[in-house]
Amino acid sequence: MKPRRITIVHDARLDQHKKEMLEAVESVLKKHFEVDLLPFGEDFLTKIKDAEFVFNLSTAGGKDVRQIHVPAILDLFAVPYTASSALTHALCIDKSVTKIVLKHHGIPTPAFFVVRPEESLEWFLAGLHYPMIVKPAREGSAQGLWKDSVVRDVEELKKAVRRIHETFHEPALVEEFIEGREFTVGIIGNGDDLEVLPILEIDFSQLPEGVERFYSYRVKNEIDHYLRFHCPAELEPDLRKNIQNSCKEAFRVLGLRDYARMDVRVRGDKHYILEVNSLPLLVPVYSDITKMAEAAGYGYEGLIMKILGSAFKRYGLD
Ligand SMILES: Nc1ncnc2c1ncn2[C@@H]1O[C@H](COP(=O)(O)OP(=O)(O)OP(=O)(O)O)[C@@H](O)[C@H]1O
Ligand SMILES: [Mg+2]
Repeated sequence: MKPRRITIVHDARLDQHKKEMLEAVESVLKKHFEVDLLPFGEDFLTKIKDAEFVFNLSTAGGKDVRQIHVPAILDLFAVPYTASSALTHALCIDKSVTKIVLKHHGIPTPAFFVVRPEESLEWFLAGLHYPMIVKPAREGSAQGLWKDSVVRDVEELKKAVRRIHETFHEPALVEEFIEGREFTVGIIGNGDDLEVLPILEIDFSQLPEGVERFYSYRVKNEIDHYLRFHCPAELEPDLRKNIQNSCKEAFRVLGLRDYARMDVRVRGDKHYILEVNSLPLLVPVYSDITKMAEAAGYGYEGLIMKILGSAFKRYGLD
């Protein structure tokens, strides 16, 4: 039987986007259920035990482990919830770990190596071709991505790796830079019942001359008005099918649940998964996955109810 009451668990501190997301999810759920809001804060451990079913929107909680806490606690108290488990979030928070899993399963991802703060770069210099891109292994939202994160020789590479170590105190992920088109792929569902939403292309071509053609921090947050989004993206049918299949396979092997979003680059006729977002934000209009849901004809409410429906089905509650 479906639950009567849904508890929305959210971050204790909310920026504008998260506030909008919370209000929007609450207003959708209120049409169908009794709804409580519970911040992941002081009283969480006592209050969560009474929850019947959780819609989990919490992505914060400690530097290295972010969205791992809430699902781990919900598992401990046997409270059912939307989206992935702590284990899967852990695999996806560290991009190098995600890539190891993808590579193991033959899913295309750019060639890479990882340099930990105490390690010497010299060990790694053979093998990869320039240009490369250097990014923090465990951040998100374009943190640590600057114009000169793309490096063309060993001096630039060393400087970029050092900057990641000094700024974030975490491993630097060095990847082959895939010059080409960029897409993001949203998936909802579980098991054999996975649905790839219409693929969204991020078009960097209108950025002013001299600006990097990738999602650096400034492109994402300061000059994003130059970006164009195309959804559904224009894609040759075979390439689209290959991207869909790789993303579905990635969803399965990482043990993702209910929904996720993956970033993909294409060079020639080859595609590469860059990273997996296991708990993408659901901000109306702004978040990529909500743009995809619009293109699919579901609208925002349809997206939220499909996510919830997938979770209910997983727990045998439909
Ligand atoms: N190997 C690569 N080749 C080409 N471009 C890349 C590569 N890796 C990252 N980028 C560019 O940098 C952007 C940010 O990288 P990535 O998605 O790994 O980081 P993020 O900060 O976790 O992203 P998000 O903002 O989605 O959380 C990508 O969207 C892409 O534009
Ligand atoms: Mg990304």
